[in-house]
Amino acid sequence: MIHTVPVPLPGRAYDVRIGPGLIARAGAEIAPLLARPRVAIVTDETVAAAHLGTLQAALKAEGIDSEALRLPAGEATKSWEQLQACTEWLLDQRVERRDVVIALGGGVIGDLVGFAAAILRRGVRFVQLPTSLLAQVDSSVGGKTGINTRHGKNLVGAFHQPALVLADTAVLDTLPPRDLLAGYGEVVKYGLLGDADFFAWLEDNGPVLARGDAAARAHAVRRSVEMKAEIVLRDETEQGDRALLNLGHTFGHALEAATGYSDRLLHGEGVAIGCALAFDLSARLGLCPQEDPSRLAAHLRAMGMKATLSDIPGGLPDAEGLLDLMGQDKKVIDGRLRFVLARGIGRAFVASDVPGDTVRAVLADALKA
Ligand SMILES: NC(=O)c1ccc[n+]([C@@H]2O[C@H](COP(=O)([O-])OP(=O)(O)OC[C@H]3O[C@@H](n4cnc5c(N)ncnc54)[C@H](O)[C@@H]3O)[C@@H](O)[C@H]2O)c1
Repeated sequence: MIHTVPVPLPGRAYDVRIGPGLIARAGAEIAPLLARPRVAIVTDETVAAAHLGTLQAALKAEGIDSEALRLPAGEATKSWEQLQACTEWLLDQRVERRDVVIALGGGVIGDLVGFAAAILRRGVRFVQLPTSLLAQVDSSVGGKTGINTRHGKNLVGAFHQPALVLADTAVLDTLPPRDLLAGYGEVVKYGLLGDADFFAWLEDNGPVLARGDAAARAHAVRRSVEMKAEIVLRDETEQGDRALLNLGHTFGHALEAATGYSDRLLHGEGVAIGCALAFDLSARLGLCPQEDPSRLAAHLRAMGMKATLSDIPGGLPDAEGLLDLMGQDKKVIDGRLRFVLARGIGRAFVASDVPGDTVRAVLADALKA
């Protein structure tokens, strides 16, 4: 069963198609977008080994030729060096403005290839084939693309909407469990930020979803994409409501920086811990009852996820050091910390003037726990 979530942005509307088996029918799905029967695919080595053959066969079945570039897997690929390699390769392939570039992979590939497509010949169309849970529920939708620099994550990029997203939920079967749970961190985020019923559904269904239940996975991807699409439609370039999607990210990005963007902490793991800290902060500021952070921590623990700072292997900077890292984040406006806080589960809002002392106290307590 394939579901379609439309993203009707004026002038650049596209569909997010969700369900099992979409890569095997990608040729038929993508053919209507093509001016000539030829595409360039960029993927990573791990995803290529598992799914590139299926994709190329599906394209071939519709008479579409394809060439593929395999980049190293992992966050370090969102770099200037790989952006250059990818862009030069696309030019080597003589990709023209009317052509379509395919990003096959997780959020790293989607962000990098989307950015390459945005700047190549001042913008070519691209199709997202997200293969990680994180990419299916979040990064493939909404048009944020970019790379990391030595100054921090996602500091160079562009808004460039895809022409189509095909989220094949069956490919999640080959995703390592740790990456699946990291992506689940972003799924939980949607419940926390705007849908308490969805959070309750996740409390009931998260464990079977993690064990491989196909229907639960498809439902979680669909609900997450619906919520993301709805927010992106309201605020494509993050002038307001789109910032809600950053719940957990101010803390999470600081933790990713503190761990050197290494596999000590995956992005989605940082988001899950960041959500827990954002709820701790909200409770400490008297915005939500203490039961809410406790309920969230209980759910993360029930899922076998990292839930607090002591779950991160290796040492971390002290509270002051972590606060400094937050200062590097894009979400700082005029030196004041901007946080997404919550008045309860499903009731997040953007707070622009959060007292640094309270944040420091939350971090100090979490470091002691
Ligand atoms: N653009 C956005 O709006 C947005 C939103 C959230 C996150 N992000 C970005 O997304 C990135 C993280 O994405 P991610 O967690 O997908 O990381 P990732 O792309 O590194 O994928 C995680 C790992 O899983 C492997 N993998 C992916 N799909 C697989 C599959 N089906 N089978 C086997 N292995 C598979 C990859 O090779 C990689 O090793 C971060 O850079 C983050 O900043 C972007």
